[in-house]
Amino acid sequence: MIRKKIVIVGGGGQIGGVVAMIAAQKELGDIVLLDIPDKENLTRAKALDLMQLRPNEGSDVQLIGSGNLESLADADVVLITAGVPRKQGMSREDLLNINLNIIKGLAEGIKQHAPNAFIIITTNPLDAMVYAFYKLSGLPKQQVVGMAGALDGARFRTFIAMETGLSLKDVSCLVMGGHGPTMVPVTRTATVSGIPLDALLSSEQIANIVERTREAGTELVRLYQTGSAYFSTASACVELAEAYLKDKKRVIASAALCEGEYGVDGLFIGVPVVIGANGIERIIEFPLIPEEQAMLDKTIAAVRDTVAETGL
Ligand code: LAC
Repeated sequence: MIRKKIVIVGGGGQIGGVVAMIAAQKELGDIVLLDIPDKENLTRAKALDLMQLRPNEGSDVQLIGSGNLESLADADVVLITAGVPRKQGMSREDLLNINLNIIKGLAEGIKQHAPNAFIIITTNPLDAMVYAFYKLSGLPKQQVVGMAGALDGARFRTFIAMETGLSLKDVSCLVMGGHGPTMVPVTRTATVSGIPLDALLSSEQIANIVERTREAGTELVRLYQTGSAYFSTASACVELAEAYLKDKKRVIASAALCEGEYGVDGLFIGVPVVIGANGIERIIEFPLIPEEQAMLDKTIAAVRDTVAETGL
């Protein structure tokens, strides 16, 4: 079997490096760490360093660094982790103009060199950058996904496990909506081994967890001071890549193009999707209660405003 090819755009960055490490440990495919020409040596250093981590893992995948978009050729998966990260005091929207230019260049390059790849985007402001990439690349909607719910859901799960003192393994939950403070952790559907959350925690505890989940990215920006979350972000990106490469049919909340689902039309927004060998195979719709739909409508309005700022 020929190994799959995974290209990490922003390979010189913090998220890119950790994506490469986890993907190599899982032997998901050969990996190219791609970045701007100025960072080519950094990508080569990370690739070589990771090559020398493999013996301990028994992983035989190959890693290389590159500063040339032609390295995208024949990629099966492209993870876009490029972009300026949030710094203290910056909202995700502040990043819009800088990162939109990066996405523009990549949309061209990917359309030219890797038109069949599954594209996973993490660049902020997430929902608007995925929309911009989709519009500018012209790739089919099944091939373009934004990584948001996988991370926001991981955070929600983490805080539920911390607060209940129970195993993460048994916690299941869903976070919908935009990747920002209006996101919608759906508390009604969160369970620990099928037991509803409100049987285990008080409404005040649940409200605190919801708030901490919504602000989890900002909490880390404050602590890191010069950047934003990257270990958990990278792990969530790999989760999507693995679901695609192994045709897992995983159900993972992700920013997907909605065309009528949940009352959203023509926007990328966090909804539960099935990810398998055909990319986003479908969006799963289930009835929300009015309170949840109202929260979702609020997040849709916020995403619509940010998308409007892209002018696309
Ligand atoms: C976060 C920022 C990077 O959620 O959006 O960590």
